[in-house]
Amino acid sequence: KIINVVLSGGVGSRLWPLSRKAKPKQYLPIFNGKTLFELTVDRNQGISSKVILVGSEQNKTLAAPFLDGKENDVIAETVPRNTAAAIAFAAFHCEPDDILIVTPSDHLIEGMDHYEEAINQGIMFAQEGYIATFGIVPNRPETGYGYIEHEGNSVLSFREKPNEDTARDFLKKGNFLWNSGIFCFKAGVYLEELMRFEPKLYSAAEVAFEYATGLVMDEEHSKLIPSKSIDYAVLERSDLIKVVPARFKWSDMGAFDSLYIYFKENGHPVDESGNIVVGTNKHTVFVGLQNCMLINTEDAVLVLDRAYAQDVKRVYEQLEKES
Ligand code: GDD
Ligand code: MG
Repeated sequence: KIINVVLSGGVGSRLWPLSRKAKPKQYLPIFNGKTLFELTVDRNQGISSKVILVGSEQNKTLAAPFLDGKENDVIAETVPRNTAAAIAFAAFHCEPDDILIVTPSDHLIEGMDHYEEAINQGIMFAQEGYIATFGIVPNRPETGYGYIEHEGNSVLSFREKPNEDTARDFLKKGNFLWNSGIFCFKAGVYLEELMRFEPKLYSAAEVAFEYATGLVMDEEHSKLIPSKSIDYAVLERSDLIKVVPARFKWSDMGAFDSLYIYFKENGHPVDESGNIVVGTNKHTVFVGLQNCMLINTEDAVLVLDRAYAQDVKRVYEQLEKES
């Protein structure tokens, strides 16, 4: 059985005030009227026969309209413990031979043919007992991604979030790809590797899953799970990793700079100085400002210089502290 595991954690703090705790970024209908969640599920629908959503309990309500009519289970985390554990919960819920296509729910992908071709190749690797990753040709020394050093489909090394100098070095060397954050493997293979490299994380996650009520993970036991991403826990260490160099267009809608590019490329009005308005039809004028965004929501307005897109996270954290 081929199952799409959709990860839906996080609040999308770098997209405040569009993204809110009550309605995180993957549920905003701003991509041609569609949400990133919906696009993710639809993209994998022809390839998989079931969806397992892993996220906080509020996801159940938010995701329901998009899961209607599809075979699905929602695994609710009471406390988020990062991706190694989130994926383990899904794997515990499956048969060891089930093939999981793990996808984040906040990425925009274009080129369905290329996507399906890549995933099908990943499924073949998964059937042979490998952990397949999907690599994107990098175009900047981004420090927020994982890098895959490769030779064809063979992975020489996996390096999560290098510093800028190292990232520059990787780009110069030329045989490094970005890790897209999409994975494909047999549930049992993932759990074996997790047990090998992170025995504590494995057992703690197993207990939280065993003590779950319905598919709501046990809170007391969840708190004891070490918070680690799959990248650090397994990908950097396992010898079973393969990479499929991807030909689809990929972007992580993490912050306003990617959203800006999306809007610009999709016909959203941009003034002659590169300024964009989101969320109001009021006549808005920018004087002396370049490459700025005005984000209007019901109860908050953000004025942002695109170059500072990553700093929005700090605004969010400050607000959290004050509330
Ligand atoms: N359910 C659940 N629970 N989902 C989670 C949790 C959690 O505790 N933590 C993170 N996620 C989800 C996020 O919502 C996102 O969809 C996905 O897992 C990846 O987590 P991020 O926090 O966005 O990871 P990252 O961006 O720092 O790095 C990962 O993605 C990059 C590509 O976007 C890594 O895999 C990098 O190697 C990769 O390049
Ligand atoms: Mg991310």
